[in-house]
Amino acid sequence: MQQLSLNDFGKTELDARKENIMRSPKKGGSSEVDSIPYLQELGVEIQEKSQPIQFSPNINEHIHRWAPYVQGFSASFVQTVLDQYKGEYKRPVVLDPFAGCGTVLVQTKINGYKSFGTELNPLLQFIADVKLNSWDVSPNHLLKTYNSMPKDVTSPAPTFLKTESHFSKNVLHNLEIIKGGIETITPKTEKQRKVKDLLKLAFSAILIDCSKLKRSPCLGYDKNKRVDDAAPFVLFGQKIRDIVSDLKLIQSQYKGFIKTKSKVVLANAMEYQHTEKFDLVITSPPYMNGMDYVINYKIEMGWMGFVEDHKALKKIKNDMVVCDNVSKGLIKDFSHAKSTYSNDWIERIKADIESNIERRGRYRRTDMPHIVHKYFDDMFRIMRNVVRSMKKGGRFILVVGDSLIADVYVPTDLLIAKIGEDLGLRTEKIEKARERRSGQIRSYRLRESIITLLKG
Ligand SMILES: C[S@@+](CC[C@H](N)C(=O)[O-])C[C@H]1O[C@@H](n2cnc3c(N)ncnc32)[C@H](O)[C@@H]1O
Repeated sequence: MQQLSLNDFGKTELDARKENIMRSPKKGGSSEVDSIPYLQELGVEIQEKSQPIQFSPNINEHIHRWAPYVQGFSASFVQTVLDQYKGEYKRPVVLDPFAGCGTVLVQTKINGYKSFGTELNPLLQFIADVKLNSWDVSPNHLLKTYNSMPKDVTSPAPTFLKTESHFSKNVLHNLEIIKGGIETITPKTEKQRKVKDLLKLAFSAILIDCSKLKRSPCLGYDKNKRVDDAAPFVLFGQKIRDIVSDLKLIQSQYKGFIKTKSKVVLANAMEYQHTEKFDLVITSPPYMNGMDYVINYKIEMGWMGFVEDHKALKKIKNDMVVCDNVSKGLIKDFSHAKSTYSNDWIERIKADIESNIERRGRYRRTDMPHIVHKYFDDMFRIMRNVVRSMKKGGRFILVVGDSLIADVYVPTDLLIAKIGEDLGLRTEKIEKARERRSGQIRSYRLRESIITLLKG
């Protein structure tokens, strides 16, 4: 239950928040209007190119459907980009520095092109790797191993999570049986290891469906959800059958691409040095005041043994592109750091956010100006690293959403284009893919954009 504290004037926090929304000068506003001065300075116009770019249609697509993911690209968006540059790059080498569950990399491999990526979340890196590198697994070997899994061995759920609240007693027991069954497999060959990895992926992919939670897109309890006791066995079996059918398809339709090199490394995109050079970089960074990619996947990360306590979760989170629920200490250290990236737009935005928070007397986080600054510093570091590994004539394509923070508009897409220009890239185009609503002022219209930067 929400704790309501009384402020100096006897108002609850909730009243004060509502009042701020009612009084907001941004009510009914839009990024379209607030972008004008930035666009003029950048010398570009935004083109309308409405299209579905979110992950949801992937649940019906081969390979992509092996693991659910809410923050990913649609495979069809990636295909559109690859098709668009077919004439220009013969066999493009593709990079996704924020690989997530590997949508860009898998779709690239489906086209027979080499693909590389980095991903900091070990669960997502594992999922992407298995989706990319299990194409030669025998469907019968997988099915036989699944059918011979023992049903009388259990392996315990992670103890640092509130597992008893996440699952009903019987569902939990059945999940522990599947986990135990997978753990009895001791692979002696590379082929057996790949089969075990597919079983692990399938298990990770059913956990949220078996729980009392849902992602919409953040992880939270769903009061209306009813899960049958047998759900773990039913869903796990269905997932294995989907993978078996996709392996059959891959081995008939994409046979020639099975050995095409695809690699996703567990690494920080700010630091990882690629040995390849890339024609196309297709990616979607975390959005500034959006998703916590660690907490949202903590259940799967815990069950799969990627983390053993909250400290380990925090460590991964601290290395990621910043989101607005990182520790205050991390932001404090950043605010004292000497060599950080900034520009006049960032400084102006920081100052405006700071004065608006001061005027309001309160805000969710008073260190928000530094969070905003850190976001663009993180993005600068990653983009600098990526630009170094791009071929001359290569393109850097980013999908990103803008933000409204303490009544200050933050044109994330245009700032990313500006950073690209500081790094020697040319802004080729910025397209608006869809309209979004601000989480704080629902009547304020934001956008999701596709930014195309060219290395000349
Ligand atoms: C919007 S998602 C990318 C989704 C991906 N395009 C897909 O379709 O599967 C952003 C990803 O960036 C990852 N990430 C955040 N900071 C990172 C960093 N410094 N290095 C590598 N990956 C990072 C997050 O874990 C998250 O999976």
